[in-house]
Amino acid sequence: MRTDEAIRLVTAARTDADLFGTQEPARRYRELVGALHPDRLGAADPLVRAAAADALVTVTTRWRTPAPTYAGDVADLHDHGDGRLLKVARHPGDNDLMAREARALRRIAEHGDARHLAYVPRLVDSYPARDPSSGVQRQVNELVTVPGLHSLDDVRRAYPDGLDPRDAAWMWRRLLVALGLAHRAGVVHGAVLPRHVLVEPDAHGVVLVDWCFSAEPGGLVPALVPGHEDWYPPEVAAKRQCGPGTDIAMATRCMTWLMGDRTPRELRAFADGCQGTALAIRPDDAWRLLRELDEVLHRLYGPRTFRPFTLNP
Ligand SMILES: Nc1ncnc2c1ncn2[C@@H]1O[C@H](COP(=O)(O)OP(=O)(O)OP(=O)(O)O)[C@@H](O)[C@H]1O
Ligand SMILES: [Mg+2]
Repeated sequence: MRTDEAIRLVTAARTDADLFGTQEPARRYRELVGALHPDRLGAADPLVRAAAADALVTVTTRWRTPAPTYAGDVADLHDHGDGRLLKVARHPGDNDLMAREARALRRIAEHGDARHLAYVPRLVDSYPARDPSSGVQRQVNELVTVPGLHSLDDVRRAYPDGLDPRDAAWMWRRLLVALGLAHRAGVVHGAVLPRHVLVEPDAHGVVLVDWCFSAEPGGLVPALVPGHEDWYPPEVAAKRQCGPGTDIAMATRCMTWLMGDRTPRELRAFADGCQGTALAIRPDDAWRLLRELDEVLHRLYGPRTFRPFTLNP
């Protein structure tokens, strides 16, 4: 399908059946995405690019894939099926949060050590798109995803009586790498919650997602994720300056929450040291904290070994 044909079809469509047909809707969907995707437009006229971007959002937001599509607080995430997620602001009032995410991810990609960039999503593109039927403009962040990711909420559900600290160990270590990477780039995540920490069980991967609430050190976290107010350290609710220690406190909370009653005394003490009430008394260097965590883990369990992990215990 040609791009102009696709744009015409989308603009004229009033129902999902108009858009996808009834014969082979999945095929039509792929054709439309193929014809409208910015990567395939090369050096097209900016007006055509903008029209294609609008049409692409209409297509993906109307498409109900059988594969999981996430409906978050801020955004809807549509799986492109080719390793890309289209994160679209649900309310135009949240477009600024999406722009915040794009800024943070660009900054990390620019300043971060390439070896660690897999710990955060890769931003492919960020653009505003207008829904032709309603006229509403929504910011879109296109992200690369990796297959097989599960959030710490999923991990906790699989291990309701507490996760073995040796399994929590690699998640904690890698989460600190993600934070070290971001903090060195001058970005505080601002919402290190179980739903935003994704793990890949087989390869022990960790990806810290949702940078919509990020801030510069010394800045303000723009909002609290509704329903999670009690996960935040005091400076966030009080609208005081945040810093790397804000993320460190929240990451620590995620880990003790995962281990629950299985948290060994030594790790409990380490965690307490990361969760002081005042930002100023908390550690603020994730890389250094990682070395300290390694020492505690070494004292507890000896040399590091690979421990297979599964979500189906
Ligand atoms: N790059 C990614 N790769 C894989 N999954 C992702 C990615 N980004 C987000 N997700 C999944 O989609 C969910 C929602 O994404 P995100 O937090 O960015 O949007 P949100 O609108 O804030 O949603 P929520 O309110 O659930 O946090 C995440 O918790 C995660 O499960
Ligand atoms: Mg979120």
